[in-house]
Amino acid sequence: MLEREEVLEKYKRYILKNVVEPIVPYKGEGAILKDLNGKEYLDFTTGYSVMAMGYGNSLIRKAIQEQLMKLEHCCHYLFFSIQAANLAEKLCEITPGNLKKSFLCNSGTEAVEGAIRLARKYTRSHEIFALFRSHHGRSMGAASITGNYIEKKGMGPYLAGIHFLPPPYCFRCSLRQTYPECDLACAEFMEEALRYATCKDVACIILEPIMMDVVIVPPNGYLKRIKRICEENDILFVADEVQSGLGRSGMMFAVEHWGIKPDIMALGKALGGGLPLGAYIASEAVSEAFEDMDFASSSGGNPLACAAGIEMINQLQKGLVKNSKEVGEYFMERLQELKEEHKSVGDVRGKGLFIGLELVKDQERKTPAVNEAEEVKRILRDKGLLLIRNESTFRILPPLTVNKEDIDKAVGLIDDALREIDKNYR
Ligand SMILES: Cc1ncc(COP(=O)(O)O)c(C=O)c1O
Repeated sequence: MLEREEVLEKYKRYILKNVVEPIVPYKGEGAILKDLNGKEYLDFTTGYSVMAMGYGNSLIRKAIQEQLMKLEHCCHYLFFSIQAANLAEKLCEITPGNLKKSFLCNSGTEAVEGAIRLARKYTRSHEIFALFRSHHGRSMGAASITGNYIEKKGMGPYLAGIHFLPPPYCFRCSLRQTYPECDLACAEFMEEALRYATCKDVACIILEPIMMDVVIVPPNGYLKRIKRICEENDILFVADEVQSGLGRSGMMFAVEHWGIKPDIMALGKALGGGLPLGAYIASEAVSEAFEDMDFASSSGGNPLACAAGIEMINQLQKGLVKNSKEVGEYFMERLQELKEEHKSVGDVRGKGLFIGLELVKDQERKTPAVNEAEEVKRILRDKGLLLIRNESTFRILPPLTVNKEDIDKAVGLIDDALREIDKNYR
């Protein structure tokens, strides 16, 4: 085993620039990640939601091992892959509405890329609506529909015909409105953009039903209004459930909270039970638009990842979606208690185990407390809890296997950390 310092040194020398926490994990068990230096962390990042089943899930490891001893690769657009066929059947079973046919690939980015290509091919239109603050991946296509310059600066030009709409971020409304008096002005904006910004050649809107950036949960009615505008204008509704899907939100898919049936859905992250796997799924009619070789992927739908994915879905069906809902509600309640106690907590929002905790400098003007959030993240790391911070919001993503004991422990640590910055709030 490499010594910790050696790994850090090799990173410095050989790995392209990246934002990295000063942690060198070598072993994981459930929600616990162990560093080479012996320190243990409660990992509520789950590696950006990839390890939704927790580390070292014995049934997932068994599924991978068994498949490994049979066949480690089967290109699923060259041969008929048993595991790809079984996983695609499962996806058809669990996705809402009419989604029937899957294409399996390597990542969320690739799934999004395939989804927007399919939408364009089916509609024979080229324009796409997306939201400010969205994240859809880092290929040229996926970055084009990502509404955040931080991930795009210096690498343009991007795809033409992308129109951005304000996100349903009620805590900081781009349109300076208040829900519900706004009558969903952010959704109505799509009508206006359609009329004045497009050349009426729109293929689709792509959106994350719960936006991962700072965990934006749309108000009731928002997604329904968008869907209605889509239907009235022959625009496809593409749900990017790469992060919000597969139990994370307390439902199998986040769109189900609002009864939405998308035309295409993109999946990734948790889908491979820790191994790289993505998928996009479409209705029979939409999927027919693709001709052979319109989309392919040499190692996409790898049988090891599919075997893990099938086992992961089995576990979701057997109770982990329910656990995500129940433990998530408990977690939100406990965080709401912290909001009452700490002036730094501006908002607690989320669904299931997809939770955002936003810090502010002052409750009235809601000035984002970015430095304070970074300080809290550092304190928590020292205390043994790992969270993702974006701007002044913590995106909290525990494994779906988490129990109330771990939640109590995390809440206690967050409480202590917030206490340390309370002195700034006299
Ligand atoms: C909503 C969403 N879509 C797409 C992606 C891209 O997935 P990946 O980085 O696995 O390619 C991400 C990754 O964070 C995401 O959160």
